[in-house]
Amino acid sequence: MHPAPRHETVREKMAVTTLESWDQGSAKAIIAEKKSMDGALLPILHALQDRFGYVDDAAVPLLADELNLSRAEVHGVITFYHDFNRHPGGRHVVKVCRAEACQSVGSVALEAHAKKQLGVDYHGTTSDGSVQLEQVFCLGNCACGPSMMVDDKLYGRVTPQRFDSIVGKLKGGR
Ligand code: FES
Repeated sequence: MHPAPRHETVREKMAVTTLESWDQGSAKAIIAEKKSMDGALLPILHALQDRFGYVDDAAVPLLADELNLSRAEVHGVITFYHDFNRHPGGRHVVKVCRAEACQSVGSVALEAHAKKQLGVDYHGTTSDGSVQLEQVFCLGNCACGPSMMVDDKLYGRVTPQRFDSIVGKLKGGR
């Protein structure tokens, strides 16, 4: 008899996105690649955030020059949309699900464990800059809770031991 396939096995094969440190040359290349798009500012801001995890203030004059906007206009868009981080966070983002289905199967203990092991509260980043802890309310993986997401990779049935094994590989690394 074959064991039932584990739902998260395929997802575990997905690549983990690693954020890069802010680099002016890379930022300029992203801007150059997308600046001819219609309404280029938002796609560029998203691309910068995807690459670096945030939009550095140094991007404002670059964007203003390349898109023929005032710095105030660029700044206004960045601050209007709450999606954009303006400061660097951890190189990896760990999101623990706090919604009801996961809470009923142990996410409260998982949260406490995560905070203790990382030494941070929600929205905090470990002192080595490797991991930023965030909360999330349902990852669509309720049947396999407690759930957590590391960058773009979803994990189910996360026990404290499993958390240590997954997150231990991130700490100290890039
Ligand atoms: S409640 Fe946690 S994934 Fe839905």
